[in-house]
Amino acid sequence: MNDMPKIGFGTWKLKNTADTTQIIESAISCGYRMFDTASAYMNEESIGLAIKNTQCDRDDMFISGKLWNADRDNVRQACLNTIQNLGCEYLDLYLMHWPASKAVHDDWIDINNRVWKQMEELIEEGLVKHIGVSNFKANQLEELLKESTVKPFVNQVEIHPGFMQKSIIDYCKQNGILVQAWSPLGSGRLLKKDEIKILSEKYFKSPAQICLRWCIQNDLVPIVKSKNSERMASNLDIFDFELSVEDMKYLDNLPYLCSSGLDSETLTLFG
Ligand SMILES: NC(=O)c1ccc[n+]([C@@H]2O[C@H](COP(=O)([O-])OP(=O)(O)OC[C@H]3O[C@@H](n4cnc5c(N)ncnc54)[C@H](OP(=O)(O)O)[C@@H]3O)[C@@H](O)[C@H]2O)c1
Repeated sequence: MNDMPKIGFGTWKLKNTADTTQIIESAISCGYRMFDTASAYMNEESIGLAIKNTQCDRDDMFISGKLWNADRDNVRQACLNTIQNLGCEYLDLYLMHWPASKAVHDDWIDINNRVWKQMEELIEEGLVKHIGVSNFKANQLEELLKESTVKPFVNQVEIHPGFMQKSIIDYCKQNGILVQAWSPLGSGRLLKKDEIKILSEKYFKSPAQICLRWCIQNDLVPIVKSKNSERMASNLDIFDFELSVEDMKYLDNLPYLCSSGLDSETLTLFG
């Protein structure tokens, strides 16, 4: 697919089981065409089965994969493994899941540049259509852009009302990099917050629809996950209403509500 769909379906925490194959099949039936996968989620085969079973043309799907940190010196083989597991011939998008963390690596800039060079070669070989990054802050992107030949197509970052990370969004917009918002519902935690419930009542839309619509109106591409076919359908049904300018401002400026707490500069967990 040439154009990236406006919403993606998340696959984190889904197990590598027949249930997951069914969930992805339901998501395809609902109308999702973009699937956000990662080798670290350890469920590529179950997702691949659903992609194989679908009547949808491969060209109508947008399949995204992520390179795990342990594969930084092994990018081509990791990408080939993902393509094989997903059974999808090529990836529409391949993301560097995490930048090398400054807290772990003195040579984090060189590591990121070395990985990126290998990712650029995947495009030349036709294994992937686009390459991008995930969890990059502005200064980490700035260093990457100095050495790169291909600009990242996407930066996938944790973003939702009450955790907007505006400096990253602004930097990406200024540099023509699309922003995908992971955990657009704060992994579900946001849906119980009064700040969101108030708008849900005002617009007669679910709290999830308010969060997802906020992403769309900020030109962010939400990557949302649901195991439930009714919720997955309603999460897609966000194109028949508009949040007012005032309500967008209100949501943009909410104080901190929640987040995963994962910071790619200080993180020591993933190496
Ligand atoms: N790049 C990265 O480092 C990174 C990190 C984290 C996540 N991601 C990606 O982002 C995706 C989404 O993030 P996420 O899975 O953390 O969380 P999310 O999409 O923000 O929220 C998912 C949670 O909300 C619930 N939910 C979904 N729709 C709902 C609705 N309409 N009403 C009520 N509850 C609803 C889901 O439960 P049910 O399933 O029961 O509906 C689930 O518990 C991930 O799956 C993954 O693909 C990327």
